[in-house]
Amino acid sequence: MNGAPIITVDGPVSSGKGTVAREVAARLGWRLLDSGALYRLLGLYAQRRGLSTDDEAGLAELARDLPVVFEQTDGEPRILLDGEDVTRAIRREEVGELASRVAVIEPVRRALLARQQAFAGPPGLVADGRDMGTVVFPDAPLKIFLTASAEERARRRYKQLKEKGFGANLAALVEDIRARDDRDMNRDIAPLEAADGALVVDSTSMTVDEVVNRILDEAARRDIA
Ligand code: DC
Repeated sequence: MNGAPIITVDGPVSSGKGTVAREVAARLGWRLLDSGALYRLLGLYAQRRGLSTDDEAGLAELARDLPVVFEQTDGEPRILLDGEDVTRAIRREEVGELASRVAVIEPVRRALLARQQAFAGPPGLVADGRDMGTVVFPDAPLKIFLTASAEERARRRYKQLKEKGFGANLAALVEDIRARDDRDMNRDIAPLEAADGALVVDSTSMTVDEVVNRILDEAARRDIA
């Protein structure tokens, strides 16, 4: 790793960390690592290559050679897998499910480690995921752990689904979020937890802007941005 500053943003599902990390990176003019996208890309690529999620060695090899390009041109960022634009395809629920299955495989996490660390560089990096502050960038000068109550996260997800024209059941979403929290926090490798020294931000009653400003204030106060 080099000396460019890093802000890590970890947190549970639907905590808003993706939106917040993107906004913080845009406001600072820094690079962005959406680490969940790498697990999603691997899940999608494995499916297309006909690889089973049980094939640990095959998946680790695929993870090392993943032919992915993150385009950071102006306008919307695009993700190309083997030359094909998969920016939208990797957001599908089914791909999220595949991602969560490949993410528990130790050799896969090891294979993706160097790839993630390679995103660091000037003028700085904002990295979001589950283990950015604990495993991938343990020396980051500012680590954020973003949370919100399960009910609030379910409400946000409900609103998103409705806006996309999908049906949704709030009570079922709360249950689903509790189950995913349980899985993420209790898995053996790189479980979701606040890193040592992380600043815990509970966004239950905060807007995205308020969370972004809180992080930028903290970065300024620590003299890293
Ligand atoms: O944040 P997301 O929904 O795009 O993440 C997709 C999956 O990848 C999710 O099941 C958790 C996993 N993941 C992980 O294990 N470690 C990360 N740093 C990021 C995501």
